[in-house]
Amino acid sequence: MAEEKGSAVGEVVHEVRSHSSKGAHVASLEKYKKLHEDSVRDPSGYWGRLARRELKWMHDFDKVKIGSLKNGDLAWFVGGKLNVSENCLDRWVEEGRGDDVAIIWEKDEPGQAVKYTYLEVLHKVCQIANVMRKFGVKKGDPVTLYMPMIPEAAFVMLACARIGAPHSVVFAGFSAEALRARVDDVHSKWIFTADEGLRGGRTIPLKKTVDDAISSCDFVNKCFVFKRTGADVSMTEGRDLWMEPELEGQRPYCPPEVMDAEDPLFYLYTSGSTGKPKGLMHSTAGYILYAQTTCKIIFDLRPGDVYACVADVGWITGHSYIVYGPLANGTTTLMFESTPLYPDAGRYWDVVETHSVTQFYTAPTAIRALMRHGPEPTEKYDLSTLRILGTVGEPINPAAWTWYFKHVGKERCAIIDTYWQTETGGIIVTPLPGATPLKPGSATLPFFGIDLEVLDPQSGKVVPFVEGEESSGVLCVKSAWPSMTRTVFNNHERYMNTYLKPYPGYYFTGDGVTRDKDGFFFVTGRVDDVLNVSGHRIGSAEIESALVAHDAVAESACVGFPHEVKGEGIACYVILKLGNEETDDLIKDLRNQIRSVIGPFASPDYIVITPALPKTRSGKLMRRVLRKIIALEADQLGDTSTLADPSVVDSLIEKVATLR
Ligand code: WT7
Repeated sequence: MAEEKGSAVGEVVHEVRSHSSKGAHVASLEKYKKLHEDSVRDPSGYWGRLARRELKWMHDFDKVKIGSLKNGDLAWFVGGKLNVSENCLDRWVEEGRGDDVAIIWEKDEPGQAVKYTYLEVLHKVCQIANVMRKFGVKKGDPVTLYMPMIPEAAFVMLACARIGAPHSVVFAGFSAEALRARVDDVHSKWIFTADEGLRGGRTIPLKKTVDDAISSCDFVNKCFVFKRTGADVSMTEGRDLWMEPELEGQRPYCPPEVMDAEDPLFYLYTSGSTGKPKGLMHSTAGYILYAQTTCKIIFDLRPGDVYACVADVGWITGHSYIVYGPLANGTTTLMFESTPLYPDAGRYWDVVETHSVTQFYTAPTAIRALMRHGPEPTEKYDLSTLRILGTVGEPINPAAWTWYFKHVGKERCAIIDTYWQTETGGIIVTPLPGATPLKPGSATLPFFGIDLEVLDPQSGKVVPFVEGEESSGVLCVKSAWPSMTRTVFNNHERYMNTYLKPYPGYYFTGDGVTRDKDGFFFVTGRVDDVLNVSGHRIGSAEIESALVAHDAVAESACVGFPHEVKGEGIACYVILKLGNEETDDLIKDLRNQIRSVIGPFASPDYIVITPALPKTRSGKLMRRVLRKIIALEADQLGDTSTLADPSVVDSLIEKVATLR
């Protein structure tokens, strides 16, 4: 059972050595340390052995790794050939496991799950791949997905992998404008969508949004549409196509394309601190190997497990830990179409009981939202099948950690706080169940093959680890790992400038970190102007540019502030153009502006109309001051001696007091 002991810095250490972690892949902390040391001493040896053991190759590779972080020219498994869909599907069918359940689809309405076996998924994927080939989708053609959480989203991703067409999945909560920007940037001639989405009992007009998005993209050849609700949607002659009738005519076999280890498997757009979103590229072999290995070891996958990651396929979590990671292990993966609160706060636990879920992976923001409803919903269901509880997306506050541990895991299940990013492709800092002591709020220690370093943000010098002492800095990785993003679509310079040039020889995560006296990592959050709202990453520059595109706005500055449920809330300070007045309608209009340029999830909590912004005498915006004001911590503004006009701060403090 759980053993609690206080550590020197005061936080509680839980060692969960219940039956739930017995026999886990990595048996003890000592074993982890030894394996980790070996893996970072000889990454090529470590990953080379795993690649040959865990993946199915069409042609063996010649060299495990070439290139360097310094030069940004990394390549893994050089000369190797493989196909990711074959690794996720065919090999399990060939092993005689075709009848095993690959995907459980938990629909929006409870009690309506649909199961697909590996053989069924293989057939569906091949049929979709054949439709794509029929209409001219070629190897290397980027394909955009704007899909709800239906199994077809996973099928299409795998069909793309099968024919070597990199997918670009755009989260279905993005607006038409945001979708257009992503379709345009990657110049994708092919789009997959559904008539509508269904979430929490409400319909989402996906096809309509796609129509609005691509009306100006005349390079789009085909829009392939699945039926989810059967709604009457408009279909453009010659461009739009219903998938269901097309699929009927297709053979359930499609030969997998021979892909190079370094061919792109997908692009995924993510927000940075400046400019437009970046299309991060993930490779074929390195990505699938890392997704497979991390999923197996971190979630301690075993035969018969039912693994549920309740994220959306529109984010990297869905790519790596709903689709690719579990399927590359031949595991049963659950796709969840609904929300944690629909029809009530017991929905997740209903899913766990109904499907005998063994691993459950969610985000701190969802846990915090559920905590508000008290522990009763967790008591109504049988949660005894659970072994491992994962979290991802933002630091988990100890209160949420403890609630998850106590009420969901009944103090038997390891809480696996996984730190990673869209860029890293898979989890890079995490406890291993049964091996790593758990500390609430800490993602603990690096995964195998990950060599972390804490750097001083100013000097770039290594902050050495001294046992018994706590230290802080920015989190960097010292040597490459197989699934790190290789480039930004069409903009390698931006890739270099964002990740590899800030600290030459290192990969820079953009996150601040504290390392405690035992060497455990506590990621503290972004050190750049990237916001993390309910685990969704949004660039402050994106919100600002949405606002200034509005007729009434002269200038804006957006910052995050601590939010009880969302982790971070959004505050927008706005200077209006002359002749405009602050009215409720205008505020509403500005909010809608952001919703329509980015999406509803970027809707701000506060819009603060102001005649001026705090700037230094040289004209630099003081975001730190704005953050403190909206967080109601104006007594901790720090050094404001460089402010051009200190009275701006006073009037902002007054204004915010009327809003909060
Ligand atoms: C950023 C990456 C990785 C999938 C979801 C988000 C923050 C993520 C943790 C964690 C503390 C975390 C970081 C990171 N983050 N997981 N366990 N503890 N912070 O992917 O949208 O690329 O966002 O999320 O700030 O840089 P993403």
